Amino acid sequence: MKEKLLQIKNTALSLIIDAKSLAELEELRLQFLGRNGTLTEAMKEMKTIPADQKPEAGRVVNEVKTIIEDTLKNKQQELKEIKVSTRPALDVTEPGIRPALGHLHLVTQAIREITTIFNSIGFKRVRHPEIEWDWYAFTSLNFPDNHPARDDWETFFIQQKPDNKKGSVLLTPHTSSGQVREMEKYSHPELVSGSPTNKKILKQVQDDVNIRMLNIAKCYRRQSDVSHTPTFHQFEGLVVAEDVSIADLKGTLDFFVKSYFGEQRKARIRPYHFQFTEPSFEVDISCGVCLGKGCRLCKEGWLELGGAGMVHPNVLKYGGVDPEKYTGFAFGWGIERVLMMKEGVKLDDIRVLYANDLDFLQQF
Ligand code: DAH
Repeated sequence: MKEKLLQIKNTALSLIIDAKSLAELEELRLQFLGRNGTLTEAMKEMKTIPADQKPEAGRVVNEVKTIIEDTLKNKQQELKEIKVSTRPALDVTEPGIRPALGHLHLVTQAIREITTIFNSIGFKRVRHPEIEWDWYAFTSLNFPDNHPARDDWETFFIQQKPDNKKGSVLLTPHTSSGQVREMEKYSHPELVSGSPTNKKILKQVQDDVNIRMLNIAKCYRRQSDVSHTPTFHQFEGLVVAEDVSIADLKGTLDFFVKSYFGEQRKARIRPYHFQFTEPSFEVDISCGVCLGKGCRLCKEGWLELGGAGMVHPNVLKYGGVDPEKYTGFAFGWGIERVLMMKEGVKLDDIRVLYANDLDFLQQF
């Protein structure tokens, strides 16, 4: 019996060690340890051997079984490792995984496009503070003390001691707050960091006012509903020089409307009222669907774009610019509004622009 077992062991081990594949190994396992395997059969014969030889035979059977199992396990591991190591480390012919590519937010795209258009006719993109003094946002723009925009239901005020001259601190509700700041680059360059303080240079810049500002910034108002977000964007144009007229404003508006919305579109101005321009206008653009004839979208052929006007002499004065010598025009429009009008999209809820909803954003 013992000899038979040792023979099974030797045969099993030599076959296992020579095995070439995991499938072959599995066959060997069945051949020796399976239900009708050689070792299993030998174990069944245990019943027939004399009682005094049983303990010794049992020990040898267990020993042989363990050693066959261990050898199988080791060989299995060895074959698996070979399988891994023979695989090429990098298969350069394998098709790659395309990385997910994002794109600019549609508001950023619009800001860049608008900037390029105005740059081409000499406007310079500037930035002015979004955390602003009342003086620049309201008072210097001719807003009376009791104007409703000053209500804290309209504008976000910052809890800080007001300045004697410049008043409260607030989050700017419009980009018009950059108008007087821009004029100060000429009239009070000492207020603007990096500007000349030398008296001679000062005199020279005041005598040569030539502003073509494009101020694009975030604006803030206490509003949140389907057509308003508390933070939004405006772009503000300001031109101040000698002999600037309404015709220049009209030409600039037309140029922008044609460049941004398309050659076939037209701009028109209608009388309106703003505190800081006189005369003031509301600017309309001919409807892109009916091209001005009137349709279901626009009703009368025109869509409202935003405000504009000739800079009020008081505002020039507050900016330190001589209203007898210089005139100017200004306009200020919402980026979200113009981009929606360009894309021809009517958002049921404008807040989706800032909800980080990729399904929405990826469309643009
Ligand atoms: N600041 C105005 C607003 O937010 C828009 C505006 C109107 C700007 C007329 C201008 C302008 O420069 O001339 O409603």
